[in-house]
Amino acid sequence: MSTSPIRIHRAGSVSLAALPPLTVYVHLPWCLKKCPYCDFNSHEARGEVPEARYLDALVADLEAALPQVWGRRVSSVFIGGGTPSLFSAAGIERLIADIRARLPLEPGCEITLEANPGTFERERFRAFRAAGVTRLSVGVQSFDDGLLHAVGRVHDAAQARAAVAEASEAFDTFNIDLMYALPGQTLAQLDADLDAALSFAPPHLSIYHLTIEPNTAFANTPPALPDDDLASDMLDRIAARTAAVGLQRYEVSAFARPGHRCVHNLNYWQFGDYLGVGAGAHGKLSFPDRIVRQVRWREPAMYIERALAGKAVSNEHAVTADQLPGEFMMSAMRLADGFDSARFAERTGLAVTAIDAPLQRARERGLIERDGSCWRPTPRGFDFLSDLQALFL
Ligand SMILES: C[S@@+](CC[C@H](N)C(=O)[O-])C[C@H]1O[C@@H](n2cnc3c(N)ncnc32)[C@H](O)[C@@H]1O
Ligand code: SF4
Repeated sequence: MSTSPIRIHRAGSVSLAALPPLTVYVHLPWCLKKCPYCDFNSHEARGEVPEARYLDALVADLEAALPQVWGRRVSSVFIGGGTPSLFSAAGIERLIADIRARLPLEPGCEITLEANPGTFERERFRAFRAAGVTRLSVGVQSFDDGLLHAVGRVHDAAQARAAVAEASEAFDTFNIDLMYALPGQTLAQLDADLDAALSFAPPHLSIYHLTIEPNTAFANTPPALPDDDLASDMLDRIAARTAAVGLQRYEVSAFARPGHRCVHNLNYWQFGDYLGVGAGAHGKLSFPDRIVRQVRWREPAMYIERALAGKAVSNEHAVTADQLPGEFMMSAMRLADGFDSARFAERTGLAVTAIDAPLQRARERGLIERDGSCWRPTPRGFDFLSDLQALFL
């Protein structure tokens, strides 16, 4: 791991008339066991999680970051991982209180916590709610014992059902994370997973196509996965069955009932700002004259040490004006509603004419459509998302 000082590149002239909404992401990096497909910054707990010391480090990290977000209100907090539900409810309560004491949260601010089945019992779950968590995101992945085993999960189907049942009882809004195109999965098994998930009437469902990421156990020993045709049939099935129960596909992998879209992720896809604290957390912060991306030290012990010394950020760079259209469009094209020209201008400081040529090319190929000042991906654009995004890079 490099211990070089922070690198700051100031390049490109950016001028923003208004700052976008600000959210806070908190990364809790420990899990019971590393899943073979996972390339997130997650580490096997191996004994006790150093909860109190990590919470101290997060506070120090937040305090050092305050001058960069001075006077701004926070519209959501997302406590992700890793497996945040490994932390005690008292620890989560302290974390939320620490954030509230330092940053003004909007009234009714969404506070999401990621929870894994099997890492909590009934009381802890309700205690998260009492601690101030407003939305639970349950990492189910599948309700099938064989498929859970095939993707190396530590929980079984009964624990998955128990966790979701608890979430629906304890929270007004919650999310289920599923993955599809799992090793050896059939269309009938996908249907059974959808039956199980939809039986809880989830306000929000995230369904990701399992991808084999570099430097994971699955990249070394790849499992046999459904072919592209079957995976595409699975996605068609997911789209049809979610639509049939009133879940709107508002983002390429996210489905929600009206009023239950994830405020935090929506802000991210709309090129809003997010302060990312915790090991390996990424952040994006706008200023009148620049947009900055940051990343924190990745390895937990190193992060704790650096954060406590007021130096949690390992790398920070300004996004150049010529990178902004591509970055904006990477996220905007994930959204069914696409974007409005005024938002493009507000978030990037550039006129939408800066992307006239690729917009026209995307339109000629049937990947995007225009409705007044709004641009949104067509169903074909969603199906060929990476081709659509590539036009703007
Ligand atoms: C970083 S995980 C954190 C949540 C929690 N630790 C868990 O695993 O249940 C967030 C979600 O990303 C998805 N995910 C992680 N790795 C993936 C991969 N290689 N392909 C597709 N989805 C993935 C899973 O659905 C997971 O619930
Ligand atoms: S539990 Fe979640 S974050 Fe942890 S290793 Fe598995 S997929 Fe990654």
